[in-house]
Amino acid sequence: MNKKTVKDIDLKGKKVLVRCDFNVPMDEEKNITDNTRIVAALPTIKYLLENECSVILCSHLGRPKGEFKPEFSLKPVAKELSKLLDKEVIMAQDVVGEDASQKAAKLQQGEIMLLENVRFHREETDNEPEFAKKLANMAEIYVNDAFGAAHRAHASTAGVAAYLPAVSGFLIEKELEFLGNALNNPKRPFVAILGGAKVSDKIGVIDSLLEKVDTLIIGGGMAYTFFKAQGYEVGDSICELDKLDLAKSLMEKAKSKGVKLMLPIDTKIGKEFKPDTESKTVAWTEIPENWEGFDIGEETIKIFEEEIRKAKTVVWNGPVGLFEFDQFEIGTNSIARVLSQIDATTIIGGGDSAAAVKKAGLEDKMTHISTGGGASLEFLEGKKLPGIECLQDK
Ligand code: 3PG
Repeated sequence: MNKKTVKDIDLKGKKVLVRCDFNVPMDEEKNITDNTRIVAALPTIKYLLENECSVILCSHLGRPKGEFKPEFSLKPVAKELSKLLDKEVIMAQDVVGEDASQKAAKLQQGEIMLLENVRFHREETDNEPEFAKKLANMAEIYVNDAFGAAHRAHASTAGVAAYLPAVSGFLIEKELEFLGNALNNPKRPFVAILGGAKVSDKIGVIDSLLEKVDTLIIGGGMAYTFFKAQGYEVGDSICELDKLDLAKSLMEKAKSKGVKLMLPIDTKIGKEFKPDTESKTVAWTEIPENWEGFDIGEETIKIFEEEIRKAKTVVWNGPVGLFEFDQFEIGTNSIARVLSQIDATTIIGGGDSAAAVKKAGLEDKMTHISTGGGASLEFLEGKKLPGIECLQDK
């Protein structure tokens, strides 16, 4: 990485503002149901504490749209963090108000505090300089470790870097190392697996990966648009009629680049969108009217597995079926299982594919599971991430 990290700057005893991505899922009682993103922030936080810094953490949680809403408070995160660090985490009652500024001013070396949800202010997402300045005024150094929010040009992810020396934390460094190496220096064969509902969400990433991979496997709801583009009926399956020409041109691009583009050859279909719906498996060319495709079929699993077993690098983004419903999780679970068994670098894009790997209990078997959903997708598309661009060059 050509950006400075916490190791490249003298931060001993300094007051440091750290942007984390603590946007974690919670149940109705505000219990955190997956603390992965909090655990992923620990190496940087511990390093700063060991270096006698005063640590001021900030993050967003959900999308409260610029208003204070108690259900979006970061208090449960402070509690979880305190448990993980076995140390008090001081909670500020606001973001840049009196309480936060006073607590920040009093913060001693080796102490740690968490600001309230930065998205309680509209100025955060608007990236307003005055708001960024108020955040910066609390500290002497800015560390960005929020990989999951690095694709957002917001005040706390990018704007603040104009007012403080700005470096990355260990999580961003690790994410860029794994994703960047897979993309730019892959051991071959390099196979990408893309799923998810819509082609429109993945156009950029398909286009960019066709320049890099040996094989591109497409599953999930996206596949039905490719079936339709080849002149076949897809029943009630998800299908973007305005993307048929695009699907055709992506298939042509794959051919011209010598990339093996693999689509499902059979599909598990259901009558209705509900967990216990009647289901059956049919060939991709034979989806009847009033049925909807929800997963890849067994023949597809076999040919996908065979291809994946040959790979030395695999990047996977997006489930290949409706894995939230038990009877349609087989395709996605099979991909996760084969990735857990092969001797290859296996990189899982965040969001749903990371959730699927966790649901299958195979997270320890992957080389790297990204903490960024949208951010990892934009990185794979080759886009510049504002939260990284704003940091000091080495
Ligand atoms: C995520 O969960 O992908 C990140 O925290 C970014 O959240 P956002 O899409 O609300 O900006």
